[in-house]
Amino acid sequence: MKVLIVGNGGREHALAWKLLQGSQVQQVVCVPGNGGTATMDRCINLPLTVDDFEGIKRAALEHDVSLVVIGPELPLAMGITDYLQQQNLTVFGPCQAGAQIEASKSWAKNLMLEAGIPTAQSAVFTDEETEAAFAYVAERGAPIVVKADGLAAGKGVTVAATIEEAQAAIEQSFSGQFGLAGECLVIEEFLAGQEVSVLALTDGKTVVPLLPAQDHKAVGEGDTGPNTGGMGAYAPAPLVTPELMEQIQQQVLQPAIATLQARGIDYRGVLYAGLMITNAGQIKVLEFNCRFGDPETQVILPLLETPVEDLMLACAKQQLDQVPVRWKPGASACVVMAAGGYPGNYQKGDLITGIDSAQAQGATVFHAGTRLNNNEVQTDGGRVLNVTATGETFDDAFARAYAAVEGIQFEGRYYRRDIGYRVREARG
Ligand code: AMP
Ligand code: GLY
Repeated sequence: MKVLIVGNGGREHALAWKLLQGSQVQQVVCVPGNGGTATMDRCINLPLTVDDFEGIKRAALEHDVSLVVIGPELPLAMGITDYLQQQNLTVFGPCQAGAQIEASKSWAKNLMLEAGIPTAQSAVFTDEETEAAFAYVAERGAPIVVKADGLAAGKGVTVAATIEEAQAAIEQSFSGQFGLAGECLVIEEFLAGQEVSVLALTDGKTVVPLLPAQDHKAVGEGDTGPNTGGMGAYAPAPLVTPELMEQIQQQVLQPAIATLQARGIDYRGVLYAGLMITNAGQIKVLEFNCRFGDPETQVILPLLETPVEDLMLACAKQQLDQVPVRWKPGASACVVMAAGGYPGNYQKGDLITGIDSAQAQGATVFHAGTRLNNNEVQTDGGRVLNVTATGETFDDAFARAYAAVEGIQFEGRYYRRDIGYRVREARG
């Protein structure tokens, strides 16, 4: 079979890599892909944008693909799944109605309340309600969290340490900082604890969690500095014991799918729950995403034993109860190598060397912001490479990943040296 993947990040490279590991998938077509997918055997890139539904449909039909996998949230929120299904294509990724779970935080909050899913206390305000939003913040006090309702490329959330900071975030959002996405705000209670990402596969009825993962959002060591798309990850997160995972299944995943179903929404794809495990050990949902996490996917897929295409097809065909999800033993770690300056300004177009020798040492280097230019792999984004390794233990996995990172060079490369510190701390 052939598979088309929409997207150009490390997540999409990891999906392409995983699909090509078994014997069932002969070719992967990436739209638009990156330098990693361009240099992988049996994989091709097509230079189309992720919102070019017409072009993607033509490519899928021309290449006679059996499955289209949608990576990022934007095309899902724009309805790519509904559009491609009308052409009788088999798509992995929820319909537009389902993608609202990520595309509108107030919609997701409302669903959580209806489903009885534990989440932070909150209130919703439109841009005509600045005074009421200010009053709410003043009454609740700081710290408090201000979230743009719509998609804001990961920049729409302000964790405000003071009332003034929260009010400034409200004003900026209402004066157009995030465009339409910021015309409505969800303001919510600050929760302290540890974040975990639980990605689940669902066919609209059955919902099966994947291994829990932890990301490192802040750019600096010790979780300092501004938030990024993620600087590293590992799985399975030891914080999520089998008992806790069972509670997440009962309190979060199953009620979410049941409530979507009750609303007539046939949600098939990934349901990603971004959770805070509070210091008191309670589960609270911070957000839902309608897609695979990045870089969580890069650490989860290497441990997956079941062919991922079997699972994705089962989701699309509503047969997930028939495919058991099996895992390899061990641990998986990923260190993100970023361009100097990220998440602020950074340069692009620098030569990257050492990837092949890093892979020869046993790491898997997923490309994120890279491009192939005149047969040279060059930097092309803020997060450049996701250097991933598995091992019997976390120590093995991290040692392998960091050894590989040492050998990879590009101008101004930056990475956190403390990825996985929570695992080491918890162990004492
Ligand atoms: P979200 O997109 O809603 O997951 O928010 C982005 C990030 O902001 C999360 O990954 C958390 O680090 C932080 N955050 C969001 N909501 C809260 C909250 N209620 N309390 C504390 N931190 C939060
Ligand atoms: N790693 C966070 C996300 O994918 O949203």
